Amino acid sequence: MGVQIGPLIAQRERRRTRTRNGLALPPGPGFSFDRMTAFRREHLPWIMRATARRWPGVAYLGLLGRRLYLVSDPSLVRQVLVADGKRVDKGEALRTASIVLGEGLLTARRRLHLPRRRLVNPAFAHSRMAGYSSTMVDALQAASARWRDGERIDLSRELSRVTLDIIGRTVLGSDLDARFAHVGKELTLALRGWEAMMVPGGSSYLRLPLAGPRRFWAAADNLHAVVRDVLGSPAGAESVVAAMRQARDEGASLDEAALHDETMNLMLAGHETTALALTWAFWLLSRHPSEAAALRSSLSDVLGDRAPGYADLPDLHRVYAVVAETLRLFPPAWILEREATEPLALGEWVVPAGATVLASQFVLHRDPRFWPSPDSFVPSRWLDADGRFSEENPGVPRGAWYPFGAGTRICIGESFAWTEAALALAVLARRWEFAADQGHRMALHAAITLRPANGLPGTWRSVG
Ligand code: HEM
Repeated sequence: MGVQIGPLIAQRERRRTRTRNGLALPPGPGFSFDRMTAFRREHLPWIMRATARRWPGVAYLGLLGRRLYLVSDPSLVRQVLVADGKRVDKGEALRTASIVLGEGLLTARRRLHLPRRRLVNPAFAHSRMAGYSSTMVDALQAASARWRDGERIDLSRELSRVTLDIIGRTVLGSDLDARFAHVGKELTLALRGWEAMMVPGGSSYLRLPLAGPRRFWAAADNLHAVVRDVLGSPAGAESVVAAMRQARDEGASLDEAALHDETMNLMLAGHETTALALTWAFWLLSRHPSEAAALRSSLSDVLGDRAPGYADLPDLHRVYAVVAETLRLFPPAWILEREATEPLALGEWVVPAGATVLASQFVLHRDPRFWPSPDSFVPSRWLDADGRFSEENPGVPRGAWYPFGAGTRICIGESFAWTEAALALAVLARRWEFAADQGHRMALHAAITLRPANGLPGTWRSVG
């Protein structure tokens, strides 16, 4: 799969000597308005990749009035996210999200972030994962029992329902599945509104008295009402919310407003990302039947007929290899954005304060300098000669693989997400195979997350 983006970026190569406010600009593509009419969100990841290939290291994109620096060397990615973490802050996309989500871990500026993170961390401690795991397996088995052989589905929607149910049970300690149609729709609307905000003029558009913006604000209000409702009722003692309530750090705790915002952040951050990881995994397996068969046979070897549990996870090597390979090819968070709060020296270039630095997982995860057959689905690259999984096995430099980010803003739900995805494949891929509709063209939609543009219509086939 690939898109012909040469014509979009080729026509006005910037010269190295160009300057802006006295600073030399790295080379990069120029975009002219007439060419931009051919531009679609489907093309964005490929444009980033072609840009990085043609101008490796740091490339400059002056796009829609924004100053964007795309870094594509693993060492520069690490510098921006880790070493220079104190010289950058979240970019515009996540900052504007606070209009809807409030100030929580995902959206918070640097100043607020660390004390908050210390209070939320205990809810995601390893010691709590076994408890979350058994709740996840309950939700997964409920989904599997609901599905019928030959049932027509939209894969993304179906797996979204599953991950929302899991977020409800584990994070909120509440049954969201009963309200899926309602909460799922509101979450989707809120996410799409957030995307609208990222376009120049988007926040102003959302303030206009039009039907679209009205639906968006109504969805956001409804989600806040769900969270208020959940926080007002007794939460399951094992839930993330209960752990956040109990958290204390040097006398500090989360007050009700902070608890509300963190819960909103977790609901949004933890739901669509994992749903997409599973969607892409089932879609890739449907296109690689031999990989699906190898996965099922490895599951039978480890589990026989029984359901998986937390203790089985270290033995599910092939499952982890499929999850990792999926996150490599289709990273649900496909690009990270940082705003320089002071000038940054990146290689031979200086990025001025106020400019935006982009580091794209999609680009680095498919870079042929580090990954042989970068666009192919090869789960075995994650397994050693004894069939054991490790993230170290592909032998790529740090910064060439970062589906969960890096540095102080690394995903708090990383081990939760690995656990959830591994258990989901262990429960569901053993019994179900997805058959995509013949003739449906899968196109990417690259916004905050990387998702299939028009869903993935198809059929569940029972295989177990
Ligand atoms: C496959 C699933 C997931 C992927 C690919 C993913 C990816 C990411 C990435 C790349 C970041 C860093 C964003 C940045 O640096 O700007 C992030 C942050 C975050 N994620 Fe995830 N995530 C996933 C699942 C989850 C889950 C399950 C939860 C919670 C239940 C969660 C909660 C968060 C939160 C709260 C943050 C902000 C952390 C902070 O700044 O302290 N994520 N995620």
